[in-house]
Amino acid sequence: MTTPTRKHLPPLTAVLVALSLSIPLTPANADAILEGERFHPAVGLNGMVATSHTLATEVALEVLKSGGNAIDAAVTAGFALAVTQPRSGNIGGGGFMLIAPGDSSPVTAIDYRETAPAAATETMFQDENGDAVTERSRFTHLAAGVPGTVAGLALALEKHGTIDLKTALAPAIKLAREGFVVPPRFTDGLESVRDRLQQWPATRATFYKEDGSTYQPGERFRQPELADTLQRIADHGTAGFYEGETARLIVEEMSRNGGLITEADLKNYRPVERQPVRGSYRGYDIYSMSPPSSGGTHIIQILNILEGYPMGEYGHNSAQSIHLMAEAMKLAYADRSEYLGDTDFVDVPLSGLTDKRYATELRADIDPGQARASLDIRAGNPASYESNETTHFSIVDRWGNAVSNTYTINFSYGSGITVTGAGFLLNNEMDDFSAKPGVPNAYGLIGGEANRIEPGKRMLSSMSPTIVRRDDRNVLVTGSPGGSRIITTTLQVLMNVIDHGMNIQSAVSAPRIHHQWLPDEIRIENGISPDTITLLQDMGHTVETRSAMGAIQSIHIGDDGILYGGADPRRSTSSAQGY
Ligand code: GLY
Repeated sequence: MTTPTRKHLPPLTAVLVALSLSIPLTPANADAILEGERFHPAVGLNGMVATSHTLATEVALEVLKSGGNAIDAAVTAGFALAVTQPRSGNIGGGGFMLIAPGDSSPVTAIDYRETAPAAATETMFQDENGDAVTERSRFTHLAAGVPGTVAGLALALEKHGTIDLKTALAPAIKLAREGFVVPPRFTDGLESVRDRLQQWPATRATFYKEDGSTYQPGERFRQPELADTLQRIADHGTAGFYEGETARLIVEEMSRNGGLITEADLKNYRPVERQPVRGSYRGYDIYSMSPPSSGGTHIIQILNILEGYPMGEYGHNSAQSIHLMAEAMKLAYADRSEYLGDTDFVDVPLSGLTDKRYATELRADIDPGQARASLDIRAGNPASYESNETTHFSIVDRWGNAVSNTYTINFSYGSGITVTGAGFLLNNEMDDFSAKPGVPNAYGLIGGEANRIEPGKRMLSSMSPTIVRRDDRNVLVTGSPGGSRIITTTLQVLMNVIDHGMNIQSAVSAPRIHHQWLPDEIRIENGISPDTITLLQDMGHTVETRSAMGAIQSIHIGDDGILYGGADPRRSTSSAQGY
């Protein structure tokens, strides 16, 4: 990543707007352009950060203001979220980062997904009868994949950043050591999983008070062990996590409790720089995460199918639009269950799945007025959809460089197991493999042979950090948590901007729908009209209203170069700030 040293000049159109207003150009008066809209994005001229926690947004914005680029700010935010948002921000998990340089050079992806330990086996989550034992793949030490976050963030910084790891870690170490004032969401989250978390002494000691009660909103929460762990990374680089004291603590945690991760697993962990998948939609170039995520592939596949319909004309969340979206989603999720896995281990027909001719074939089977039943695979028995927690952030700097990052420990608080002495939670990402081909994971997603467990393999993900370009210029940076719903959440923000002309805050806030083939139902958020639901039912759909889906943090770069940030109101700590 080359970072121009010249001082950034405000975009011409923005200058003209300011001149016509006869006042100095500031984000506040740039906001006047949006007068009359119901939802107002954050506005910035030189940089924009959208994360799921105000404190992470603030420290990342400081990096941009002091001359750092979007990658510097992203790595700083990534470590800060690991402190302020332990339910999903992480150093005990993994994720994906897309980087789109502002000078229109190629978009690249850093894959720091967790890997299966060397001792993992295909049947490790099956009992003696060959039945999947979900408790084991979700809530034990066996559930943890080898964490990738520290190596991934370090690689991003080394290859594309301008600051060193020590500098990027400094705000996180300060937040962990000095503590931060907890918001209501922090307290509510820990209260809601008290029983699951408090069975693990180190988790109880790290995240609850001595008497087992939760920190209340307004109280200060400190994490001295996590501060020491982060300090070791600052002092020794990735070796400060994958070797030495932290590695010893992880391996001891494993061997005391029947886990599989060894010193060699940690030392051998490598993030991988990959080509993102690329598609197009109505003249926009879509870049999103390639395998081992299924996200980008299926966003492009669904967009290809929907490109054949005048979605803008059918209208946002009309029954006709929702019907067609649901039919396209079903087809994509059916393919996901069959074909997707880690391409380092299995062949995935990526170009076929994202080919517009394939979409045309699929579209031909969609009845514009009637739902098709999802009958071909036996129905799953999914656990609650609400248990997942992942987190996404989007950043654009003054040079137009864009970062879209999604990372996770899978469930809210991952496995619930804290590494004793190291102060961070372990992921339960092994549940994203097929415990048994054909049996659904926690999100009700059916996995196939392609996603079977193999040593060193990355488990299939739905995380979909996405960047959209038009005429080689970055225009949209987005992504979301939400397990299986990440794909459809991200898709709808793209459509809300491209098909429905919404500003980014409206696009992020609008009610969403989801269909994943199995179970055969359209899930909707509150805000879809009863008349629309009746029309969908008349077409043969089962419609279920469920809780909010996703928490998509997005940035739109206007034709005028002004940066618009949309923080998702579904997460109360979400924050988009520009300058
Ligand atoms: N653990 C959820 C995902 O990666 O899709």
